[in-house]
Amino acid sequence: TGPGPCHFVIFGATGHLATTKLLPALYQLDAAGRLGEDLRLVAFARRDWRLEDWLQHLELVLQQHTGPGFDRAIYERFARRFDFVEGDLREPEAYRRLMDELGKPRMGACENIVFYLAVRPADFMDVVDNLNRAGINRKHGRHRIVVEKPFGEDIESARLLNTQLHKYFDEEQVYRIDHYLGKETVQNLFVFRFANTLIEPVWNRNFIDHVQITVAEEGGIGRRAGYYDRAGALRDMLQNHLMQLLTVVAMEPPASLDADALRDEKVKVLRSIRPIPVDAVNGHAFRAQYAAGTVGGREVPGYRDESDVRRESTTETFVAAKFYVDNWRWRGVPFYLRTGKRLARSMSLIGIRFRHPPQLLFHDACDRIDPNWILLSIQPAECMHIELHAKRPGLEIDTRVVRLNASYRHETEGPMEAYKTLLLDVIEGDRSLFIRFDEVEWAWRVVDPIVRQWAREPLLVHTYPAGTWGPEEANRLFDREDHAWRNDA
Ligand code: BG6
Repeated sequence: TGPGPCHFVIFGATGHLATTKLLPALYQLDAAGRLGEDLRLVAFARRDWRLEDWLQHLELVLQQHTGPGFDRAIYERFARRFDFVEGDLREPEAYRRLMDELGKPRMGACENIVFYLAVRPADFMDVVDNLNRAGINRKHGRHRIVVEKPFGEDIESARLLNTQLHKYFDEEQVYRIDHYLGKETVQNLFVFRFANTLIEPVWNRNFIDHVQITVAEEGGIGRRAGYYDRAGALRDMLQNHLMQLLTVVAMEPPASLDADALRDEKVKVLRSIRPIPVDAVNGHAFRAQYAAGTVGGREVPGYRDESDVRRESTTETFVAAKFYVDNWRWRGVPFYLRTGKRLARSMSLIGIRFRHPPQLLFHDACDRIDPNWILLSIQPAECMHIELHAKRPGLEIDTRVVRLNASYRHETEGPMEAYKTLLLDVIEGDRSLFIRFDEVEWAWRVVDPIVRQWAREPLLVHTYPAGTWGPEEANRLFDREDHAWRNDA
């Protein structure tokens, strides 16, 4: 890794992830002058295309996904970085063509190669086996492979996948990506917690009543039924993105920002999460599927009527769950997590609710005093709010909620694309924001009782109309009557 020539191969270059996230992010990095002169990109896809066809497609993709930020001069520079290799992921011959392409004189001799697997999890092993056959494996320390979540379908399949990967690659060569760690607010959480003396002393069970994490999406499953119908919200979002958010909220200060120091602390949190007994899953986790409804003024079909979804599918598109982190800092504090598709609004938020003051001096002045909150909004706005009480101006002693607002990116500016920072880390070889296998394994250990119990009870009971905040029944998870979801920051 480090400076010097780097080749970046994208498997699944015409797929959903490459189209909506990877290519726009790489283009924006180029526009910001962050891609080295020597970075070459190779698109690998099944289309029977030549380079010109790929470039036409690329231009359309970028016009659609970078909006007004599209600039022809930058596009032309970006396009010159590309080569195109046509091939089936399962066909060894295609990998020989890829190797020939990588070895072509114009590319220069390059040891530093990234293989990005933007393909369905079911295809991971074919790609890895074929890369090995073509001569790419642990002997090349500077070759890296990037794999997307979910890593496995449960703890057993994750271990199997990992053993297979490790047949050919060392752990240092494997970059398991979770793009939520690249989000501005998530990175800001490290700074907010560990660069202020004001925050850490109250960041524990003595002051915090509960934590809630919401990742709500307005969108449905689009054209991803082939993947999603098998995964569901639990595997697609909760086991990885929401679990990662939980660990970043709950972790102890690391000794340094070194990749392993950081990940050691995250693993400690995951290990401390109280396992849900299989017979108590129903009191701790809740699932539902969207029915037809109206989202943003538009009527949308129910999940089972989406194209390529099985009509009798019981896949959940909404999940809410409650976890406890059994350690000195967090014992007894519930962490409520929820995520879903086709909800009322796209909104991702970490809410930290504080305890009531020990004595309510101003109780007469108003009906009840709302507790303090720290709200970290991940999207659409990227900001942090602290809700406190202050005196209402006037002759009476009356309180009102004031909000300290630290907004670092307004929603109209669009989100800072998380993939940008993570792709740069891959190119530069910084693994701190990538998931180590023990994190994956411990996260599965937490989620596995739910997976198993739901598999045993395949009949899905609850639905919710698209465009709502999910089913009322999800509120049964709350430990106390005064706990409720926050739907805004
Ligand atoms: C992906 C999931 O990992 O994250 C998708 O597979 C989901 O189902 C997406 O829509 C959400 O990411 P973001 O960055 O748009 O919040």
